[in-house]
Amino acid sequence: MPRTKLVAGNWKMYTTRTAAESLARAVAAGVPASAAVEVAVCPPFPWLTTVANALQGSPVSLGAQDCANEKEGAFTGEVSPPMLLDAGCKYVILGHSERRHILGESDAQTNDKVHAALADGLHVILCMGETLAERQRGLKERVFQRQVFAATSGLSDEQFHRLVIAYEPIWAIGTGHTATPEQAQEAHAFIREKLTTLFGASIGQNVKILYGGSVKPDNAAGLMSQPDIDGALVGGASLKAETFLPIVQAAVAAG
Ligand code: PGA
Repeated sequence: MPRTKLVAGNWKMYTTRTAAESLARAVAAGVPASAAVEVAVCPPFPWLTTVANALQGSPVSLGAQDCANEKEGAFTGEVSPPMLLDAGCKYVILGHSERRHILGESDAQTNDKVHAALADGLHVILCMGETLAERQRGLKERVFQRQVFAATSGLSDEQFHRLVIAYEPIWAIGTGHTATPEQAQEAHAFIREKLTTLFGASIGQNVKILYGGSVKPDNAAGLMSQPDIDGALVGGASLKAETFLPIVQAAVAAG
């Protein structure tokens, strides 16, 4: 079975309530119900229910950008997986490099969140990728291996079906320096091969691996046409329907 592509917009800490609502409406209006790709938008927490309402009746899924690793409790400021499900989320992005590198989230914390979110029924978009220094020192494979292995050990087959990986080279995020389609394909193939070795071909071949890092309408087609690139996690270009929808169309065209 070919893997269906997924294009997810990571709105980060942008938008007002009004802007989020109109962006969600514009994305919903631009994605036909029959689209052969899945589309998701991940607004900031306070706008989740507003965006959920705006997306009603459309095929666009809702996601959040982080979650806690507990269902409930005295964890000031945290938001749990059951709360996200209740707000209408299907997806949650975990382990984004901005959380790992700016907010100091460790592999272990990310893994706890991945396990908690999957256990509660969310679909997880797990981000991983190397820094420029790691790439220059030839360490990128070691980084992927550590990140893939740490986050996926102990998952059931059913949980793997709700796990999406996003390869986001840190040097490409928000910088305008996209990985070339060949560089991205090489990394995706390596991650898939690791998953296959560790968990078998049915998991390795079925896990979606998205590319993220300065995906724009003009580079999306080249990236999406690579055999191991199953869509995109889009930051900056997801904040306007005029730049996000052409990326969705590139995914549709790449099949
Ligand atoms: P960018 O962000 O598209 O703005 O580079 C991608 C991401 O951080 O997920």
